[in-house]
Amino acid sequence: MEFLVCNTYEEVSQEAARIFEAQLKAKPDSVLGLATGSTPLGLYRELIRAHECGGLDFSRVTTVNLDEYYPIEPTHEQSYRYFMDKNLFDHINIDKNNTFVPNGKAADPAAESVAYDERIKRLGGIDLQLLGIGENGHIGFNEPGAALHASTHVEVLTESTRNANARFFASIDEVPTHAITTGMAGILTARKIVLLACGKNKHAVVQAMLDDTVTTQIPATLLKCHPDVLFLCDNAAYKG
Ligand code: PGA
Repeated sequence: MEFLVCNTYEEVSQEAARIFEAQLKAKPDSVLGLATGSTPLGLYRELIRAHECGGLDFSRVTTVNLDEYYPIEPTHEQSYRYFMDKNLFDHINIDKNNTFVPNGKAADPAAESVAYDERIKRLGGIDLQLLGIGENGHIGFNEPGAALHASTHVEVLTESTRNANARFFASIDEVPTHAITTGMAGILTARKIVLLACGKNKHAVVQAMLDDTVTTQIPATLLKCHPDVLFLCDNAAYKG
């Protein structure tokens, strides 16, 4: 794992954007694994700018998002489909038919999960995977536990995750209790991974990423076993 500390959130976003731009220039039909949350917003703003000012081309790109609340309507303002449209897809020249987010209103979420993994396989796997990290060390919605799932599955959200995400909802009661998430295999088979951590509240988990321990109790630590991970964090996350 390559580790890089930037001074500010903006610098983390710019550094991450450089990697995505290089990826699209080298392979215009890349399959990108994308993430939601506060952390990637700066990167998405940089990519929109690169599209608008530098002509960065997304016309041949396919995207696969990590996760979606369950159940949730795609039109719900807190759904991850809505988030991606609003914060990225509506502002770039991507064909929305080539943007995939788990279906939060699937009648059969187990079947949706199997189909999601099959789609990733059919696409030839993920070239570049973007990840944020939960305060509890989750990646996607793979929550800490005695064991993790390899495949896409329905996950029960932990109290820590629901509390962290309550800021986006009117009250904690409205935060969904479940999500459909790509599993650890879906993440770890991406050819390249960029992991972002910003802000003081990520300090403890950043520290856990910098020793040699790998534990399912901090799912992100499994990334230490992947051959091509760039971990970018800002000073606040690094120094606490
Ligand atoms: P955040 O979420 O970017 O909103 O901090 C990260 C995550 O939970 O994966």
